[in-house]
Amino acid sequence: MANRHILVIHGPNLNLLGEREPHVYGRLTLAQINGELRKFARQTKTQLKIFQSNCEGNLIDFIHENRKWADGIVINPGAYTHYSYAIRDAISGVDLPSVEVHLSDLTKREKFRRISVIAPVCIKQISGLGWKSYIKGLEILMTHLGSL
Ligand code: DQA
Repeated sequence: MANRHILVIHGPNLNLLGEREPHVYGRLTLAQINGELRKFARQTKTQLKIFQSNCEGNLIDFIHENRKWADGIVINPGAYTHYSYAIRDAISGVDLPSVEVHLSDLTKREKFRRISVIAPVCIKQISGLGWKSYIKGLEILMTHLGSL
């Protein structure tokens, strides 16, 4: 099925990708990653709305404002992953299938990063594939939606 609508949401500090700890998060900038996601979307006839914010409330507002437009969400909540019950509630509240993605492998990092309060309301968590975690997340979501 063509023309699925997907929200791609980047949380705090991801605007600094490329210069932020490149040994952990890779050398691609956020603009370059978004370019790859748009390319993938064109190939699969998917419509994306891409958003980044360093503020919890802005991320929640974006989810609320787009809840009727969207068929699903791919989200990298950044450090909010580990403690934002508010983002978790926003995702479960809008009842859209969501995939949580991370560039780094959370299982191989500090202990606090192994906990996600958001993953339980997502259909899947992907981590450790670098920017390709987002592509994998899109593929899983589209398969779930019956459009891959
Ligand atoms: C991250 C992992 C988080 O623990 C961290 O706070 C981030 C990025 C990742 O993509 O690997 O900001 O979500």
